[in-house]
Amino acid sequence: MPRSIILGCGSYLPERIVTNDELAQRVDTTDEWIVERTGIRQRHIAEDGQFTSDLAFAAAERAIDHAGIAVDDIDLVILATTTPDQTFPSTATKVQARLGMSNGAAFDIQAVCSGFLYGISTADAFIRSGQAKTVLLIGAETFSRILDWEDRSTCVLFGDGAGAVVLQASANGASAGDDGAGSGHNQERGILSTHLHSDGKLNDLLYVDGGPSSTQTVGHVRMVGREVFRHAVTNLAAVVDEALDANGLERDDISWIVPHQANKRILDSTARKLGVSPERVVTTVDRHANTSAASIPLALDAAVKDGRIKRGDLLLLEAMGGGLTWGSALVRW
Ligand code: UT7
Repeated sequence: MPRSIILGCGSYLPERIVTNDELAQRVDTTDEWIVERTGIRQRHIAEDGQFTSDLAFAAAERAIDHAGIAVDDIDLVILATTTPDQTFPSTATKVQARLGMSNGAAFDIQAVCSGFLYGISTADAFIRSGQAKTVLLIGAETFSRILDWEDRSTCVLFGDGAGAVVLQASANGASAGDDGAGSGHNQERGILSTHLHSDGKLNDLLYVDGGPSSTQTVGHVRMVGREVFRHAVTNLAAVVDEALDANGLERDDISWIVPHQANKRILDSTARKLGVSPERVVTTVDRHANTSAASIPLALDAAVKDGRIKRGDLLLLEAMGGGLTWGSALVRW
């Protein structure tokens, strides 16, 4: 059965940066509160007229370039988003058109902040089953469009951005340019496992109070922050152990945790619970805030491009979000 190799990655952030002090002019908050309770110092916000598909396309171009493939090689585009350009068509098909693709299939995935992991699991399943050979997977969001800018408990937490990866089938886990790190099954490059979870009974902890079928409005993000926090710390530590157990690996084997970036305190608590040094947790929440489905590929791209993540490293990707949904992917880079 072919294994899925991540050939390359890319990301894009809108130019406009909004600081905590700027937000403090709009709502009753302070830079001190936001930094202390979340670790967030700034976020990028899309310009008027700049859509999720624009961010996604920019990230996709960079990922395709980094992967060294041709657009014609891609036979599937998966885009994880909660903030599509329109109710339909899917934002994935808009990116497909912008790329000039006339072949293959394209669809969106909606699992809020876990969207990228639901996407990677889906991409991996398509590749393993032989239904796709080269998948462009994007996480892209303009969360600024669904925030209630008068609700200080949510509007300070989120930002806009996009990240993308190119995955390709490899018959034996190796691919061109592989330096052959190790010989065991778990030393081979590629996606070793994915695990997805959801618990729909917890819908009302984090949701948008609108939608085409209910209110016919877009709606705004609503969250019971403290409860979501509690579930996040418990569930995220559990999925890390679940992924390691499934692969016969230990916590010490992890080179880098690349988590969804919701709150620095969640990252620290999860690392503490796992006994993993905080230096091994890729952190971008200070600069990007919570970009939902885009946060993992944004963090991955940052750590790959600055040289922290190296060939052969073991990466543990994890996230939790609305639904509630949560999950993990274990990847040998
Ligand atoms: O990505 C999807 C997953 N999302 C998450 O994982 C988010 C999880 N939750 C969190 O990150 C945290 O719960 C928050 C950052 C959202 C909130 O932090 P908290 O420490 O749980 O604060 P809290 O909600 O318990 O609120 C504490 C106080 C409240 O005031 P009182 O009732 O104690 O007087 C809030 O009204 O902080 C107040 N508060 C603020 N104060 C200044 C809430 N937001 C703000 C604000 N500025 N922006």
